[in-house]
Amino acid sequence: MINYKAVLDNISKAVEPLSGQGRNADYIPALANVNPDKFGMCIVTTGGKSFETGDSAERFSLQSISKVFALAVCLSLRGESLWKRVGKEPSGTAFNSLVQLEVEHGVPRNPFINAGALVLADIMLTSLEHPEEDFIAFVRELCGSSTVNYNLEVACSERKTAYLNAAIANLLKFHSNIECDVERVLDFYTKICSIEMNCKELAKAFLAFANHKEKFSYAGVSLTSSQVKRMNAIMQTCGFYDEAGEFSYLVGLPGKSGVGGGIAAIYPGCYSVAVWSPRLNSKGNSIMGMKALELLTTETMESIF
Ligand code: DON
Repeated sequence: MINYKAVLDNISKAVEPLSGQGRNADYIPALANVNPDKFGMCIVTTGGKSFETGDSAERFSLQSISKVFALAVCLSLRGESLWKRVGKEPSGTAFNSLVQLEVEHGVPRNPFINAGALVLADIMLTSLEHPEEDFIAFVRELCGSSTVNYNLEVACSERKTAYLNAAIANLLKFHSNIECDVERVLDFYTKICSIEMNCKELAKAFLAFANHKEKFSYAGVSLTSSQVKRMNAIMQTCGFYDEAGEFSYLVGLPGKSGVGGGIAAIYPGCYSVAVWSPRLNSKGNSIMGMKALELLTTETMESIF
């Protein structure tokens, strides 16, 4: 039996030499003010145990990690027909790239790039009676914490400077892949990204994906085991944008990153893990977070490969 607490404490020491490398996402003004030198990590097992180290109880901005929850809602709402509006191929480009979207006539490569998640936001806006309330109710049930919420200060701060996302949303609208008002879609999208959790809550939220053979039904969002399996496949191939190959190579687990410095990953059937450290590399992924997960799967020899 692996002593995960000792493994996590060792990892926390082993990543220390990387402190100072990279910087917070500063294109979202509110995120630039977060203390960059935080590090927290938590594992939650399918058997109900949890192991933590560092700043694992401090909440941070999920940013793109929330796109996984948005995909779960949209798959539950639309099933296979979802894939008419968004692809499921890795993009190999930055999360906020416009290039492919123009060439591919407004159908985003996958649901985790910004273009794809804007389409997900549009689908939720057209299908849910109370989009903001229904979405957060689902996320709260998934992570088991009723106090998890949107951070409207972060959402407003991003919304005011969301020039690139606005360009993407307008291009989607031009190609009729957004039904709602563009401004409404941008508002909801930035709120989705602004949700905050700590590492323990995030690991708990991802446990449902690690437990893919169990029933997935939270606040009216239901997925089959096969759908959860497929979501994990998309995390594996698209969860890290133009670094999905590198993450697969170094870590070997399905996962999703966010520019708040968080990464959530799953070891199917066994555990979910969340790590947070705000300093990012040039691809928008947490430097210490990636290293920590690489060390975890190397030391435990637990990966999907
Ligand atoms: O739309 C954005 O740019 C952010 N709200 C989310 C980007 C993000 O987290 C990309 N992940 N590494």
